Amino acid sequence: MKSILFVCLGNICRSPTAQAVFADRLERAGLVIELDSAGTIPHHQGRPPDSRAIHHGRLRGLELEHLRAREVVETDFHRFDRIFAMDRANLAELQRRQPTRAAASIELLMSLAPDYGLEEVPDPYYGGDQGFERVLDMLDAAAQRLVEQIIAAC
Ligand code: 4NP
Repeated sequence: MKSILFVCLGNICRSPTAQAVFADRLERAGLVIELDSAGTIPHHQGRPPDSRAIHHGRLRGLELEHLRAREVVETDFHRFDRIFAMDRANLAELQRRQPTRAAASIELLMSLAPDYGLEEVPDPYYGGDQGFERVLDMLDAAAQRLVEQIIAAC
């Protein structure tokens, strides 16, 4: 596996946070994997992540400010080895758009950490600070699992 795309709805809360969390965990494990994130809607195209996502990421030493939102495009399905959706709606939308001969495997992100007990990363956009902290906790558990899986497979 050489590349991963994280996908949520707006690409300003969950998926850029996932990109930053996984980048940090992979770097600390000495693993080099290309990461990017995208949304299934174009509304926030070109914008930095939500200021609350930036703030809560920073509290954990993560840098999100340089990221810019974009919508998923057809080439993503050929360019990335794995595409991780944050929730079932994102997953269904990706499966609907997936070109016939695309190689990417499309999965729910929390399938990386089934023992966490939650299948979907809840959308924090309309909620408070607690939602952003919870998203970070879930993403960190998933990132830790991915690192363990990669190391175990080596
Ligand atoms: P995200 O959160 O999918 O985690 O980036 C959202 C961002 C924007 C909207 C909804 C969810 N929105 O409706 O604009």
